[in-house]
Amino acid sequence: MANISRLYSDRAGKMRKSEIRELLKVAQDPEIISFAGGLPNPKSFPIQDLKGVVEYVLDHHGKIALQYGTTQGVEELREILAERALKEGINNVTADNIIITSGSQQALDTVGKIFLNPGDIPLVGLPTYLGGINAFRSYEANLIGIPLDQDGMNIDALEEKIKELMKDNLTPKFIYVVPTFQNPAGVVMPESRRKKLIDMANEYDLVIVEDDPYGKLHFDIPAVRPVKAFDDEGRVIYMSTFSKILSPGFRIAWTVASEELTRKMIICKQALDLCTNTFTQYIAAEFMKSGSLDLHIMKICEMYKPKRDIMMSAIENHFPDGYICNKPKGGMFAWATLPEGIDTEIMFLDALKEKVAYVHGKAFCVDGSGGRSMRLNFSYATNERIAEGIKRLGAVIDKKMKVLCQ
Ligand SMILES: Cc1ncc(COP(=O)(O)O)c(C=O)c1O
Repeated sequence: MANISRLYSDRAGKMRKSEIRELLKVAQDPEIISFAGGLPNPKSFPIQDLKGVVEYVLDHHGKIALQYGTTQGVEELREILAERALKEGINNVTADNIIITSGSQQALDTVGKIFLNPGDIPLVGLPTYLGGINAFRSYEANLIGIPLDQDGMNIDALEEKIKELMKDNLTPKFIYVVPTFQNPAGVVMPESRRKKLIDMANEYDLVIVEDDPYGKLHFDIPAVRPVKAFDDEGRVIYMSTFSKILSPGFRIAWTVASEELTRKMIICKQALDLCTNTFTQYIAAEFMKSGSLDLHIMKICEMYKPKRDIMMSAIENHFPDGYICNKPKGGMFAWATLPEGIDTEIMFLDALKEKVAYVHGKAFCVDGSGGRSMRLNFSYATNERIAEGIKRLGAVIDKKMKVLCQ
C-alpha cells in the first residue's frame, strides 16, 4: 500500500480523532442506556406532518428544491428567519444578514476559518460544547477557558482574563458562548449578564459568537432574549439550528451576522459545499409558514419536561450524598459533579459494564478540569430507560465510593 499519509499537510497531521466520538460509537449498542449523545428523541420527529409538506414542496417547488441553490441559502427561508429574529428582539435583521449552513457545526468551523490563525485565542466556557472546541482547535487555536457558574459564563472571571491577556499584548479573537441551556452545563445566562457581556465586548472591542441551539426548548421559564438582541454595534455572530427543534438529519442551521461577515462566510462556504441542502430548506420554510414549527416545538417541550423530571428524581433517589446536579430549566442536558476522588473518565468503563453511558466532564473542559463531572442527556432515552439508567449509574458510583472509602 502506498504511504500517502507522509504527504499530509501539517494541519492534517495535527488532527486527532475525537476520543469521545469513539466512546459514543460504543454507546450505540441498543442494550446500553445512553445518556451520552446529544440526540433529539426520534419519537419527536413529525414524520406524518412532514409527509404532506414534502409532497407540497415537490409539487410546487420541485424543480428548484432539487437543484443546487445559492450559497447563502433559500431566500424565502432567510426571510422567515429574519422575521422571527426581529420578533425575538434582534434589531435590523434582513435576509441579507442570514446565511443557511449545513448545521451550526459548519458555522462554527467557518467562524474558526475566518477568525483564527494558529495560536489565536478564543475564550470559551469551562465547560463548553465539544464540537466548538474541536472546530476551533482544528485551526490550531489556543483555547482559554472561563469558568461557568449557575448563571453561565462568569463575567468577572472573563474580564479578569481579558485584562490579563491584554497586559501581555494578547487580544482574544472572540468569546464563544452557549448562553441558553448551555451544552453541557444546562445553565442559562440571565438578561442582566447578557447586557454586561455586550458592554464588555464593546469596551474591549471584542467579537461574541453566540451559539443557541436550545433556546426554544424552555420548560419552566419564558423564552430569554438572545445576547444578540442587546448588540448595537454588530459584534455578535448569532447561530441557531433546526437540529433540535425539527430534525438533525435536515442539516440546516442559520447564522445572523453583519452583511460584511455574512459575505465572508459565503466565500468560505463556496469552498466547503457550494450550498446547504436545498430540499430540506424548502421543507423547513413550508413547515414554518404553516405555523407547524411553533406547535411542534411545544410538543417537544411537553415530551422533554417529564424526561427531565424523571432524571432529576432518579438522581435524587440513586446518587450517593455529596453530588451536585443542577435542574436544567430547558434544553437537553444535566451536568452532575460527583464527590472528591471520583474520576468520571475512568468510571465510564464501569458504567459501560452496567450498560449505561454518559460523557465525562473533561471532554468539555479545555484546561483538563471537569474530572468529577458528567453530562447526562435526558431527551433521547425512553422514560423507563431514564429511570433504570440512572439507577444503574447510581449503583456504579456507589461502588466506586465504597472502594474510595476503604
Ligand atoms: C451547542 C451546540 N452547538 C452546535 C451544535 C451542532 O448542531 P448542528 O446539528 O446544527 O450542527 C450542537 C449539537 O449538539 C450544540 O449542542
